[in-house]
Amino acid sequence: MFRKIATASFFFLTMYFISYAQPKDMIVINTQHVALVFKIDHQQVLQVYLGEALKNEDSYAAMPVTGSLQSYSTYGIANLFTAAIRVTHADGNPSLNLEYVSSHSEKINDDISLTTIHLKDPAYPFEVTLFYKAYFKEDVIEQWSTIRHQESSPVTLHEFASSELYLNAKNYHLTQFHGDWGEEMQMQNSELSSGIKVIDSKLGTRADKYDSPCFFISLDKASTETSGHVLAGTLAWTGNFRLLFEIDNQDKLHIISGINPYASEFYLKPDTTFTTPAFIFTYSNHGKGQATRNIDRWARQYGLPDGNKPRMTLLNNWETTYFDFNQDKLLHLFDQAKELGVDMFLLDDGWFGNQYPRNNDHAGLGDWQANKKKLPDGIGYLVKQATDRGIKFGIWIEPEMVNPQSDLYHEHPDWIMRLPNRPENYQRNQLVLDLANPKVQDFVFGVIDSLKTDYPGIAYFKWDCNRTFTDPYSPYLGKNQSAVYIEYVEGLYKVFKRVREKYPHLPMMLCSGGGGRVDYGALPYFTEFWPSDNTNPMDRIFIQWGYSYFFPAIAMCDHVTGSGNYSIKFKLDVAMMGKLGFDMRINDLKPEEVTFIQKAVKTYHHIAPVIWYGDLYRLLSPYKNSRAALMYVAENKQRAVVFTYLLHQKLGDNYTPVRLQGLDADKMYRIEEINLPEGQQSHCPESGKILSGDYLMNEGIHAPLHGDGSSAVFELSVE
Ligand code: DGJ
Repeated sequence: MFRKIATASFFFLTMYFISYAQPKDMIVINTQHVALVFKIDHQQVLQVYLGEALKNEDSYAAMPVTGSLQSYSTYGIANLFTAAIRVTHADGNPSLNLEYVSSHSEKINDDISLTTIHLKDPAYPFEVTLFYKAYFKEDVIEQWSTIRHQESSPVTLHEFASSELYLNAKNYHLTQFHGDWGEEMQMQNSELSSGIKVIDSKLGTRADKYDSPCFFISLDKASTETSGHVLAGTLAWTGNFRLLFEIDNQDKLHIISGINPYASEFYLKPDTTFTTPAFIFTYSNHGKGQATRNIDRWARQYGLPDGNKPRMTLLNNWETTYFDFNQDKLLHLFDQAKELGVDMFLLDDGWFGNQYPRNNDHAGLGDWQANKKKLPDGIGYLVKQATDRGIKFGIWIEPEMVNPQSDLYHEHPDWIMRLPNRPENYQRNQLVLDLANPKVQDFVFGVIDSLKTDYPGIAYFKWDCNRTFTDPYSPYLGKNQSAVYIEYVEGLYKVFKRVREKYPHLPMMLCSGGGGRVDYGALPYFTEFWPSDNTNPMDRIFIQWGYSYFFPAIAMCDHVTGSGNYSIKFKLDVAMMGKLGFDMRINDLKPEEVTFIQKAVKTYHHIAPVIWYGDLYRLLSPYKNSRAALMYVAENKQRAVVFTYLLHQKLGDNYTPVRLQGLDADKMYRIEEINLPEGQQSHCPESGKILSGDYLMNEGIHAPLHGDGSSAVFELSVE
């Protein structure tokens, strides 16, 4: 896995052991505000506490072990609920007992500490190590496990969780994110009842298309943005995942996360290590807003490459041309990108394939050479033309896939996933390459590497993935087919890792037929992601709102397109809440609209640092109001940007003020409505005034909007 680990210095190690000395039978994993505490009792590691860090660490020592549950529960010995791990030993024994052996904590740097707990079966040479990486400033904990044995032959892993956590409350409220193509990340709330609730994926690739591996559990009552005890968690895995919630007989909630064990028995050979993906979580006593800000800060620092560096605005040609373009059309679009003032032109699908030209989605995938008819002078010429105009050039790829109409399909039939003795099963007329095969990994890496080697000026890749895998058969894995879902993802990560090692700062967009693959397993290799092919701004408010709970604005590509019968201003205001881009026919715009966009791009470049690196406060939810409002506040609280949208015109609530959050009560802020079309005056009575943070957070600002799909954006800066 791609983790940024700084070298621990002797100084910090010394500091750590002085300040973290704990009783021998207790293990405290803590950040600034979150603590997870275990006690060792009768050789079992039991979770005694998960919640807000207590002021006095001695308080943990007083916590009882009675009723506490195993940190990583096993099947077969006394456990009556779903186990974190279930195995069949080499001799056929289906039970596992994991006893405490040792634990170790080390400070990796002044922010990160790593605790390992080593467990072993007293009757078998079988061991599990639990890892807890605590990010002190960000209040985030990453948890994963490794499994090893020295038995005489492979041990079958049936269940192999990343993590198991327990919560203790009167009742539990789940917030999950459900969807499909074009309606990703729709938020749903429900109270958990007894029994088991599972959120999972069996889709293989494009695994998050229906359900996201992100959730909140609120304790006792549903949390709001600003109140309530809430655990926020997500699994860093780009394949089949499972989140399991089970309420036991004592009304405790067991939360088990990990790779989905469905159809995935894993035969672990002696002396090899099975490493689970990481479960990433935070805990907040102040509602979901704080949990989001914790995750966002962690993501910018550790979960994304260059998460604290600028992103490029761009013009993409997909919704403008689809497959129907040629060199001249593209050069014209380069001119338009330049005219708009964006940083880059992104060439989408359709540029490759000769024997089987990619003129539609039936042919060409796999043949990554420029189509000579459409692009007679090749990619190098396009890079040069873009560079001459002072813009960057980016390009689309979908290297994991193949169309039957392609040279690749005919040259390497053994590289393709498909079931023996069954007809091929297509989605979007394509098949999945067998990434368990190291030769396929080389090929997929080679797609990017060859393009970068031949045309070093390529400044950006959009990596797409347009199908799930329905025919789970890897020719490479032979008889070991139950490993296919796991080995595919491991193969994919090997490729991602090679790309990042060779091109550490190359901006790349993670795309999967919209937002079918947005997770922190893949995101450490991608600077940004494509949330949805649905670019209608009204729908996008909900989609972007959903993603905003777990993914920072700097990574969310929001494009202004032709979709939706709304004003350019509304489209711009919606796209500006993330990473701004365009994908529209500029020729169809009126001159005043082009002028407005040019000004908006400049405005965006001016406010982007607040949006990209600031803290997010969701003020009015579109799920509960006819309006939506959110704001970003710079870390030093000197600047803020507020977005307000009117979704459905209703009398009344449009006139109530929007109360701001996150400002410094004692600072005086100048409020300015920005991104107004030429000649339009602000209707906001506070615009142009200087008011205190105190006033703005208690009284708020009035943003009177008129008509469905109207919006206003405000910049606040300390005088
Ligand atoms: C799906 C993506 O989500 C779109 O943005 C576009 O790149 C198409 N694929 C191209 O085939």
